[in-house]
Amino acid sequence: ETVEWDPEQAGKGEYDHFMLKEINEQPVSLAQAIEGRIDPINGRIALSDFEPGSFADVDSVQFVACGTSYHAALYGSLTLNQAGVQSTALLANEYSVSAPPIDDDTLVVAVTQSGETADTLNALRRANAEGAHTLTVTNVVGSTAAREADDALFIRAGPEIGVAATKTFSSQAVMLTLLAQRITDDLRGEPPTDLESLLSALDAMPGAIDNLLDDSDAAEIARRYRDSESYFFIGRGLGYPVALEGALKFKEITYEHAEGFASGELKHGPLALVTPDTPVFAIFTGQEDEKTLKNAEEAQTRGAPVIAVCPEDHPAVAIADDHLEIPETDPDLAGLHANVQLQLVSYYAADLLDRPIDKPRNLAKSVTVE
Ligand code: G6P
Repeated sequence: ETVEWDPEQAGKGEYDHFMLKEINEQPVSLAQAIEGRIDPINGRIALSDFEPGSFADVDSVQFVACGTSYHAALYGSLTLNQAGVQSTALLANEYSVSAPPIDDDTLVVAVTQSGETADTLNALRRANAEGAHTLTVTNVVGSTAAREADDALFIRAGPEIGVAATKTFSSQAVMLTLLAQRITDDLRGEPPTDLESLLSALDAMPGAIDNLLDDSDAAEIARRYRDSESYFFIGRGLGYPVALEGALKFKEITYEHAEGFASGELKHGPLALVTPDTPVFAIFTGQEDEKTLKNAEEAQTRGAPVIAVCPEDHPAVAIADDHLEIPETDPDLAGLHANVQLQLVSYYAADLLDRPIDKPRNLAKSVTVE
């Protein structure tokens, strides 16, 4: 008797798809991203290649990236802005026509899971040519982007096979949160005083994601809204890149129409699309949540069901039609917990539609053409 051996199936272990396996690997991949990067003695972020003071001369930070990595880049850039540091996230494919001014005090950070995306390499090369200090944040040691930048930081997520990025997104966003904190410390030039909440939230994150994965109602929510016309995702502050990423993941693997908006923008146009057939996933991160709740209620008044992604005792739970729970955590990380719930919703919605989840039509894991 012979046993059929399918290496691809074997690689998936107990899971039907690599995507679900990779979503479930996040407690481990996140622990690896954080490992050794918090100095327990003086309670600071420690990035071994960057001694304290390394970023003291930086006067602005430009992130360049594409696709999901762009959403991680935006997450990092907004974190810096909120800490008072001049920063922008730019689509790498737009950078060749519209890069902001660069000088030798500009830090350009290329964010690319593969390290091989042509658009991102082009942006990195332009930044190198114009004399910026360049840094690549990637999953692949020895990749082109890692080699061509002045410095590299590795997210250590392990191999990601599913075309739709999941664990690499969360690890990039965590890595950029650590980097943002290190840059902020250097620019303030004094020891940080407000790190306790962030450090304890980072420490708790792998375990908290593990619990969230065990208890998620995402499969049920996906089933409840399976016949909808369009899916909207709204968030504010650090919830905004998460809303964009929630919608991108949803459209990539379900082939259904989905859009992410800044919560406050809903009333400036997209509200015209809202009907009882357009569920709205509202992400609450603890940053002006009362405003986001008002925006969600405006959609609800037009008949849209609202799914609140927030902690259990949050005021949105009483108002929303449905709830996806995230733990109480630091506002700098809350959106990344919400993102895991949204990854699961996309996965289960695509599974109900019987889509080829790991290899969506027309998409490639790494795009090496412009
Ligand atoms: C492709 C993939 C996306 C990915 C983007 C950037 O378009 O389909 O999932 O986000 O490339 O990839 P990178 O390797 O640069 O992160």
